[in-house]
Amino acid sequence: MKFFVDTADVAAIAELNDLGMVDGVTTNPSLILKSGRDIIEVTKEICSIVSGPVSAEVVALTSDEMIAEGRKLAAIAPNIAVKVPLTWDGLKTCKVLSGEGFMVNVTLCFSVNQAILAAKAGATFISPFVGRLDDINLDGMELIGDIRQVYDNYAFKTQILAASIRSANHVSQCALMGADVMTAPPNVIKAMASHVLTDKGLDQFMKDWAKTGQKIL
Ligand code: G3P
Repeated sequence: MKFFVDTADVAAIAELNDLGMVDGVTTNPSLILKSGRDIIEVTKEICSIVSGPVSAEVVALTSDEMIAEGRKLAAIAPNIAVKVPLTWDGLKTCKVLSGEGFMVNVTLCFSVNQAILAAKAGATFISPFVGRLDDINLDGMELIGDIRQVYDNYAFKTQILAASIRSANHVSQCALMGADVMTAPPNVIKAMASHVLTDKGLDQFMKDWAKTGQKIL
């Protein structure tokens, strides 16, 4: 499973990228707001750090404007994936931009039917939002499994990019469900390293080591 980092925080991206944890980046208007940066500038900087796909999202609501915005975003760097919402206009935009050879990430997906439409419109990535379905007492992870099954049934090439990932547990569940990619904030990726028994074991090793009175360096 590929790891995308869901942030526009350049320092956090660089830290994870140095560890080989970043196969790509996803951003959205909320993350651009959080960064406090200009969308073009920060996206360009991210693309200079990360060689994998970097999703940059359009903000227009009509396909003509989305297509124009998408072309402008795609001109930032060759590894831009234009992110469009799963609306009818977003699907039209996906068809046009993917036809022009650009990567397209169709976002805000909450159903199998939406995922089928995105695949037929030529999406490179479909982004089902796991956490936001859980928020309304639906099963976000079940949607990942269902899309996996349907895409496999018909050999759709669109990659399942599990988004709205809120916990380390979500990450392992996505891997078990067969998501091609997951995107998570840096803190969630770091939380994957934590285990209470690791902490407990390390604490015991440190106590016993102190009793030896030895040093390695
Ligand atoms: O990639 C989409 C993601 O940013 C949404 O996450 O936690 O705001 O639902 P969240």
